[in-house]
Amino acid sequence: MKEYWDNPYKFDPERFGPKRAEHKRHGYSWVPFSGGAHMCIGLHFANMQIKLVLAEMLKNYRWQVPDGYEMPVQQSPISKPRDDLPVTLIRRSLD
Ligand code: HEM
Repeated sequence: MKEYWDNPYKFDPERFGPKRAEHKRHGYSWVPFSGGAHMCIGLHFANMQIKLVLAEMLKNYRWQVPDGYEMPVQQSPISKPRDDLPVTLIRRSLD
């Protein structure tokens, strides 16, 4: 794992930034949209939607998971949390 990701278990979104681009080290390191010939053709559209929705959600809500929560991951057929993802959204004050 360390040959593909620096400090692989650390939550570190900067690893995807243009400076480090760790997800480009190998064609199958980062596979939420699969890889190879049948990689999702909606990938760029989906990424734009995700960024727009997340920007609004982060602006308007604080997100909280229970103390010490560790997300169990299901990898197939699509990468997602194996539980119901116990996130509580707390509305930010509007002033
Ligand atoms: C978060 C959103 C999305 C995720 C996580 C996702 C994920 C995936 C994955 C994992 C595959 C590969 C399936 C396989 O290996 O057989 C795939 C294929 C595909 N996706 Fe998406 N997708 C998303 C959004 C979209 C959107 C918005 C479109 C169309 C506008 C789309 C169209 C397709 C098509 C047509 C394929 C088949 C590609 C092929 O077999 O050559 N997807 N998607």
